[in-house]
Amino acid sequence: MNAKSIAEETYVLSMNVEDILFEGAWEIPNGVSINSYIIKGEKTAVIDGFCGWDGAPETLFTLLSQININPESIEYLIINHMEPDHSGWIEKFKLINPNFKILCSKKAQDLLAAFYGQTENITCVKDGDTVDLGDGHVLSFTEIPNVHWPDTIATLDTATGTLFSCDAFGGFGKIGSSIFADDLDENELKKYEVDTIRYFSNILGTFSPQAKKAVLKCENLPVKMIAPGHGYIWREPGLIMDAYSKYADYQKGPAKEEITLVWSSMYGMTEKAVQFAVKVLESQNIKFHIHQVPEDSWGTVITSAWTSTGLILAMPTYEFKMFPPMASTLEEMGKKKIQNRKVFSFGSYGWSGGAQKELAEITTRLGMNWDFVEPVEFLGAPGEEELQKIENGIIALVNEVKALCSNNK
Ligand SMILES: Cc1cc2nc3c(=O)[nH]c(=O)nc-3n(C[C@H](O)[C@H](O)[C@H](O)COP(=O)(O)O)c2cc1C
Ligand SMILES: [Fe+2]
Ligand SMILES: [Fe+2]
Repeated sequence: MNAKSIAEETYVLSMNVEDILFEGAWEIPNGVSINSYIIKGEKTAVIDGFCGWDGAPETLFTLLSQININPESIEYLIINHMEPDHSGWIEKFKLINPNFKILCSKKAQDLLAAFYGQTENITCVKDGDTVDLGDGHVLSFTEIPNVHWPDTIATLDTATGTLFSCDAFGGFGKIGSSIFADDLDENELKKYEVDTIRYFSNILGTFSPQAKKAVLKCENLPVKMIAPGHGYIWREPGLIMDAYSKYADYQKGPAKEEITLVWSSMYGMTEKAVQFAVKVLESQNIKFHIHQVPEDSWGTVITSAWTSTGLILAMPTYEFKMFPPMASTLEEMGKKKIQNRKVFSFGSYGWSGGAQKELAEITTRLGMNWDFVEPVEFLGAPGEEELQKIENGIIALVNEVKALCSNNK
């Protein structure tokens, strides 16, 4: 972890965090970076600040010393977004430098009072407002509400064309030796793409319409470089803007020509049919993801489902309902508004059934608008006839997905 120069008089302070659940809920298998930025004009501004995930702000102060910045000399603290992963150090910082000024949106001002009792030295900024740090560094602000909270803004330094975009255009994953996305090799970039889809779908997914608006707004700014609050910095801003625009569209589908199979089984009856289903899928020349719940987390399932136009759900009945980990995964998919998917489902039951009925209940209640191929429910182990029906269901689903995705190309 080091402070690094990314543009004239502009520095990134980035810290990798691992072994936590992001927001207390979301698995991050490859970690996440928390990025803060410093602009040193005649006046010095810090954009976003570390949270307490590693016992910061001491970490931040160590990094500041690497670029010879005394925390007492910091004039402005720009809070693009009040969520504590970007602002959590304010209270301790206040003890060192009580004279700093906060720049943030009106909504963030209200949150600052509620979260930290901070009511003084705050200037609210809105779309198009500017603040001059001297030495040519004129900062201009753009409201991007709900990416991720209602308070969020992005800050553009017109001197360097750097857009400090906070949660927008970010991704999970630890930062390696370089913080620039264009320094990643092909494999690293592919890995980062998955981490970015995980971040987008798990953290920002619910707000896809607002993310889309943010992309359109930021595309109209004179941006040369995007410096997000999490993940790599983009020196070709169009790449991540286009990617974000696509990810936002996937929420309502169609997404990619892919299928996600989510399955669960208590005693192996449903699993027998899943093993058969995998063979059928392998013969269909289509990309697919497989996840077992609860072994795989909600976040992992949602990451795959986000880019999949088709879903296959396999689960047994449990106490007249759906096997609970499957039901909670589906509820979470509904809350993220993963809508308009093509879906095939099957599963085993012992006497009454009930899993398929609950599937209809959840998807209707959450307005998911999923289009179902006829489900297959079987008593105990799947027989030949049922396996045949499962094969037919999968082939019908694959054809629908391919037709939809080719219409949408
Ligand atoms: C705790 C528990 C609750 C169950 N509740 C029901 C039920 O309400 N109705 C039903 O038809 N079967 C019920 N079953 C039976 C299972 O659905 C059946 O054993 C099925 O084959 C399990 O599939 P699996 O081996 O893929 O887990 C229950 C089984 C268990 C272990
Ligand atoms: Fe956030
Ligand atoms: Fe964040």
